[in-house]
Amino acid sequence: ERGGYDHFMLKEIFEQPTTVENTMRGRLILEDGTSKLGGLNMSHEQLMAIDNIVITACGTSWHSALIGEMMIEDLCRIPVEVEYASEFRYRNPIVTPTTLCIVISQSGETADTLAAMREAKRRGAHTLGLVNVVGSTIAREDDGGVYLHAGPEIGVASTKAFTSQVVALALFALKLARKRTLSVIRGREIAQAMHDLPAQIQKILDRAAEIEKIAEEYKDAHNFLYLGRGFNFPAALEGALKLKEISYIHAEGYPAAEMKHGPIALIDEKMPVVFIAPHDGVFDKIVSNIQEVKARGGKTIIITSRDEPALEGLVDHEFRIPETVDMLTPVLASVPLQLLAYYIAVKRGANVDQPRNLAKSVTVE
Ligand code: F6R
Repeated sequence: ERGGYDHFMLKEIFEQPTTVENTMRGRLILEDGTSKLGGLNMSHEQLMAIDNIVITACGTSWHSALIGEMMIEDLCRIPVEVEYASEFRYRNPIVTPTTLCIVISQSGETADTLAAMREAKRRGAHTLGLVNVVGSTIAREDDGGVYLHAGPEIGVASTKAFTSQVVALALFALKLARKRTLSVIRGREIAQAMHDLPAQIQKILDRAAEIEKIAEEYKDAHNFLYLGRGFNFPAALEGALKLKEISYIHAEGYPAAEMKHGPIALIDEKMPVVFIAPHDGVFDKIVSNIQEVKARGGKTIIITSRDEPALEGLVDHEFRIPETVDMLTPVLASVPLQLLAYYIAVKRGANVDQPRNLAKSVTVE
């Protein structure tokens, strides 16, 4: 049932060309640079009336929410708040009849996320579930939904659900933006980039052995730092979460420029720092952060996308990902980070499919 893979987690990482494809199947309209989402259950008028969006989720799903926030604000020019479901439900959240509440959950059963959705509904928001498990409680109770169609995720550490969540958010942002603020030319560029993702993910997976080598070198580290900027700040958080939950190595994700406001004190020759630095709009900015780490003797593992003279002398290890539009870079960048966490955990003898203290679906608050 693991299809020849040693663990479900590895199988699910390798399924991502297909699962990402399945999330987009029948939904992407290349010609018009938009998407079709049959389950939104919102009229054109309702979609046009949305003037604020709240996205609520937990854990990995909360990380995809942060990427969704940036996509929607950038493409649709609608203010978005991302809230931990456990916090949202006990606050006194501001929800209006023109609030859209997007709820993201792989399982569709997370207790806090469900309660947050119910609270948003009670206050009159339209709720939209981005859920993987068909017929789950959140999928049944939301006002509209976008199923991820990633197939059952068995590994406790979420991998394929995360990339599908980001793609589903991109589909939604594209649809809304094309109704309101985005030209067909720019819409087509994004739709084409989405269409190309599965083949690009496959190219990354074909080079998994490069990541396994890096894992061998750092498997005994006690700490890891993950740094990214812009769309890849949430990718840094997600990379760190994957590592800590399955390898039990302490890891932190930070916006790269925040490092000098504190975490820089941690850097010495024993500290591996993973930079998520594809060649996007903030590449030049992250180079200076890489210099700051190198100057203090830190070990740099850099996920980037081109030959770059600016990186000369700053790289201990490098892994190349294909290029795409900025907003989709976290989809590609997260794949080597999943592999890094996986290989490190396996080399430390950890049970990656059943990490200690964790449950696949957190149905208690
Ligand atoms: C991490 C992980 C958890 C879940 C979180 C929310 O790998 O799997 O952080 O993302 O418990 O779960 P769902 O998405 O099912 O609501």
